[in-house]
Amino acid sequence: MFDSGFGGLTVARAVIDLLPAEDLVYLGDTGRYPYGPRDLDEVARFAHQIAEELVHRRGVKLLVVACNTAAAAALESLRDRFEVPVIGVIEPGARALASATVTGRVGVIGTVGTINSGAYQRAVAAESDDLELVALACPGLVEFVERGEFATEQVHVLTERLLAPARDAKVDTLLLGCTHYPYLARTINDVMGRDVVLVSSADETAFEVRRVLADAGREAPEGRRGEATFVTTGDVNWFEELGRRLLGPELDRAERLRWG
Ligand code: DGL
Repeated sequence: MFDSGFGGLTVARAVIDLLPAEDLVYLGDTGRYPYGPRDLDEVARFAHQIAEELVHRRGVKLLVVACNTAAAAALESLRDRFEVPVIGVIEPGARALASATVTGRVGVIGTVGTINSGAYQRAVAAESDDLELVALACPGLVEFVERGEFATEQVHVLTERLLAPARDAKVDTLLLGCTHYPYLARTINDVMGRDVVLVSSADETAFEVRRVLADAGREAPEGRRGEATFVTTGDVNWFEELGRRLLGPELDRAERLRWG
């Protein structure tokens, strides 16, 4: 599994909880984060380099692109190039959104790269013709999460400004289309109001991993205790410190990967 940084740890948490027998390698590309404002061709290049490391050097049996921006940029080309199943977070998220809404008025928030790629707009349209979607890019929110700031006054003010169009559109369900946003759930909930359901793709993606492994007959034997390995391309101490706060005690140490 990989992400540009820490956000994919929400997906890692869900996979560890649902599939405790599986070994997990999580690579956070914190050396090159953030992906959101970058050109999608560049993000696709990073995604292929990381997939090469995980699939061919570390021998993973399935790859999760636990980053919305990377999934928007490279999911199809990764599926074409690598022989293992490749799962993104966009389709599972769109599915969860479609099944949670009652009124059919829904919203998705993500990075500039994700929203401008149109990947969510296409995935939501593929779920149902009856959904009215407000898609909003939210530049700045990721940076707060990466600093460990989840519910300060500044986060609140920015969130209020960015989410105003979703509130005005009276969406009943909001998809957190960026792996970092579940950490801001309290603030987003305060801004949107208690009646709006927040959906994150983490759980839905974990279910998809379970389904794909089961269909391929590749699940780890039940009762086994899986091991989690964490790899960062950036500062190890920071990754361990913030990562442990975000994921929990399984992240007791991280290794540093330098591109050779
Ligand atoms: N992980 C990215 C995503 O889910 C957000 C962080 C970034 O911009 O790199 O879109």
